[in-house]
Amino acid sequence: MITSPTSSSLSEPVRLALDAAIRAPSPHNSQPWRFEVTGDRIDVLLDKDRVLNVVDGGAREARLSCGAAILNMRIALLAAGRTGLVHLLPDTDHDEHLATLSVRGARPIAPADTALARAIGLRRSNRRPFTDRPLPARVRRALVEAAAREGAELVLLEQPGDLDALAALLRHAEHLQSEDPEFRAELARWTVTTDSRDDGVPAMAGGPRPEPGSLLTLRHYAVYSAAQPDRPYEQEPLVAVLNSYTDTPLAQLRAGQGMERVLLTATNAGVSASFLCQPVEVPATRLALRRLLGSQAHPQVVLRFGYGFTAPATRRRAVETVTRQHLPEEVPI
Ligand SMILES: Cc1cc2nc3c(=O)[nH]c(=O)nc-3n(C[C@H](O)[C@H](O)[C@H](O)COP(=O)(O)O)c2cc1C
Repeated sequence: MITSPTSSSLSEPVRLALDAAIRAPSPHNSQPWRFEVTGDRIDVLLDKDRVLNVVDGGAREARLSCGAAILNMRIALLAAGRTGLVHLLPDTDHDEHLATLSVRGARPIAPADTALARAIGLRRSNRRPFTDRPLPARVRRALVEAAAREGAELVLLEQPGDLDALAALLRHAEHLQSEDPEFRAELARWTVTTDSRDDGVPAMAGGPRPEPGSLLTLRHYAVYSAAQPDRPYEQEPLVAVLNSYTDTPLAQLRAGQGMERVLLTATNAGVSASFLCQPVEVPATRLALRRLLGSQAHPQVVLRFGYGFTAPATRRRAVETVTRQHLPEEVPI
């Protein structure tokens, strides 16, 4: 029998894992995931109806998001003294079947995992201005190591020339997207102006409009408008590109885990982050970005880091909405 889970039908570790999974970031907060639970096994499925057809026709960003959800499950389980054994793309005949996670037995809890698990509920995309306080070398190293731990590469654009070149690609990509009526219509569909939705990006999650001539162009969701204007955007932003070594669905799922480990590590260090993915979403600028980095790697997301005020949390569809549970048939005796 397949049913929606109830408050008591999921085992505690499965419930913990799913509560963490749904906090993952996703483009336009589209939440392109579904879960199927059988005992202590969770199957992660791509929800093709929620893939952003215009900005993410190949579902690359959707797979990054599901990768992030998988990392959240792994971390939540480790922090509860359990292990989540993950098999990525277990079924070659069904490309929407992204992973199978099996909950395994007790293990000692590492304080680092407890801290990362706490960061799952605190992480937000913070599109508002950051202070000009630079990130210490120790924190920069931790972010790079977090990506490497999941087999991804985080390249910090620390040379001014590189940052200027990325900013030019960002402006070009933003211009192309904003000129595209289909892109604008998709963005409008996911920009939330009422309180009745548990997906999409609400106005309060936007940032103030950058000053004319600012280096970085942010995606224009409904622009957050405080009564008092916010402080200006930081003068020397720290921007980084997260790369994968190939661009297959498997590599994208791994990169999504790397992306989320980077974001949780940042959150844990009191560092805010936001996405600037326009240059990766437009094929021509993605190619130019790859050349700029001078590597064989494939850019997956662009991130901006800094110290900021807390940003508001965005909503999620409930675990019960995105999960189906397989229950054993009751056999009459
Ligand atoms: C692959 C990916 C690409 C994204 N690209 C952008 C972007 O270009 N601009 C932006 O403002 N937010 C971007 N986001 C952030 C999402 O809009 C954000 O995760 C979502 O609204 C949920 O909010 P939260 O991150 O605060 O939980 C991206 C997220 C993901 C996972």
